[in-house]
Amino acid sequence: MVKKEDKLRHLEQLKKKALEGGGRERIEKQHQAGKLTARERIDLLLDEGSFDETDTLVRHKFTHFGIGKNRPLGDGVVTGYGLVDGRPVAVFSQDFTVFGGSLGEMHAMKICKVMDGAVKRGIPVIGFNDSGGARIQEGVVSLGGYADIFLRNTLASGVVPQISAVMGPCAGGAVYSPAITDFIFMVEHTSYMFVTGPNVIKAVTHEDVSFEDLGGARAHNEISGVAQFSAKNESECIRNIKKLLTFIPQNNMEEAPAIPCDDASDRKIKKLNTIVPDNPQIPYDMKEVILAAVDNGEFLEVHAEFAKNIIVGFGRFNGRSVGIIAQQPAFLAGCLDINSSAKGARFIRFCDAFNIPLVTFEDVPGFLPGIAQEHGGIIKNGAKLLYAYCEATVPKITVITRKAYGGAYDVMSSKHIRGDVNFAWPTAEIAVMGPEGAVNIIFKKEIETAKDPKATRERLLNEYKEKFASPYIAAEEGYVDDVIEPATTRYRIIKALEFLKNKRDNNPPKKHGNIPL
Ligand code: HXC
Repeated sequence: MVKKEDKLRHLEQLKKKALEGGGRERIEKQHQAGKLTARERIDLLLDEGSFDETDTLVRHKFTHFGIGKNRPLGDGVVTGYGLVDGRPVAVFSQDFTVFGGSLGEMHAMKICKVMDGAVKRGIPVIGFNDSGGARIQEGVVSLGGYADIFLRNTLASGVVPQISAVMGPCAGGAVYSPAITDFIFMVEHTSYMFVTGPNVIKAVTHEDVSFEDLGGARAHNEISGVAQFSAKNESECIRNIKKLLTFIPQNNMEEAPAIPCDDASDRKIKKLNTIVPDNPQIPYDMKEVILAAVDNGEFLEVHAEFAKNIIVGFGRFNGRSVGIIAQQPAFLAGCLDINSSAKGARFIRFCDAFNIPLVTFEDVPGFLPGIAQEHGGIIKNGAKLLYAYCEATVPKITVITRKAYGGAYDVMSSKHIRGDVNFAWPTAEIAVMGPEGAVNIIFKKEIETAKDPKATRERLLNEYKEKFASPYIAAEEGYVDDVIEPATTRYRIIKALEFLKNKRDNNPPKKHGNIPL
């Protein structure tokens, strides 16, 4: 008969063995590559001592190509639940030291279990991806495992927040799990994502490209827009994930989180009265407006390096989380183009799905003209932004700081598409188009036949500017609720949010809409 003490010792040994992952040598190699191990990542993310591990004793059951001789505990992924700043989360962390973090049947089963658990518990899922992809020795079964995860990613979308941290390789079809989640974090020089790698590309298209240039953090944060955050190292990456979590609710049934606020809600911001230059062609930095308005100047920018003509991110007003969308006049004059429209739309849909009010700062001369934009699909991409704003039922507040011209006026959370509270600064210009273009069209003949075309044009331009390039016609129509002193912007937004706290709005019953993808 085996003694109780021996049984306990056996359990202890098993648990100890599981902690070893792929062994000291492989862990050393991981560290030398500038990467942390799966468990070190979890330790950095979770509150000390809060990790409740699941499926430590799971092993694979395959034998092909000698894999049966090595059946490591945990099967190359660490899973479980824990607390981040006291709030529960579900987590999985692929262990590159075990079979290169490759995903087989049991590895996938463990991930699926915590994803299901997260949905049942109504808590976010954070996944650390560091994997050579489908475990080759398990063949099609590992592909099935990926598909099981993709389905769960999709069903959990809009129910609980899903965050992907890509900490190493993420290649082939494996990229589609992070791609379905809400936010992708990457680390410079140690993480990469691609559908087909440099070798395949070389063989097929004869292009030479490095792993980093093809699918590194810079490539996906600045060029493709696949990833929303980039960090210099893994610790910074995990700190950013924790910061993001402070702004978002645990699930779609919860309100946006609120924290005590020590920044005066009626604080006047004098510099906003002068921030917009007299000359409408001169840019200014919209980030200054945002930082001045939000609580304690704290703003978490999302997608900071991609489509910089639009700014999106999280801030707080009087302690309550909001999603901020703003044009950046200092980049491409704040025009809406393909990338900025898609970026804005995606962010708005996340906020709406998770009950986070939207605050829009608008200074948009219009959509970016050009053949590349037209042929690239500015129509359907601009429509995404429009659709996202129209569909959103969370409180929507808009501040027009300067230009609101043409279709872009309609798109940017205008009153007509259920903007709840729409303010304009006295510097706002709300019209079908800017003075130059408008005068050239409607007074073409008058200018051409005038004795002094230049002087006539100048006179008509001034007349148009006085009449139309202002917020007052829109205010007369009730299209803006008030023209406000810029210095009072913070206070007015806070008051509006307060009165919108119990907002109720619905869309008609439907299976789902058909956003122009
Ligand atoms: C089984 C794998 C593996 C895999 C790596 N390993 N990838 N084992 N299946 N897919 C093992 C290696 O054999 C090695 O084991 C250990 O992990 C570390 O790998 P190394 O190659 O030594 O590491 P490194 O030099 O850092 O290179 C990492 C890598 C490379 C670039 C990821 O391993 C690689 O190219 N792997 C294959 C990638 C791939 O093509 N995967 C399939 C993608 S398609 P030992 O025992 O020697 O330490 C896919 C389809 C998903 O995933 C479909 C979803 C729809």
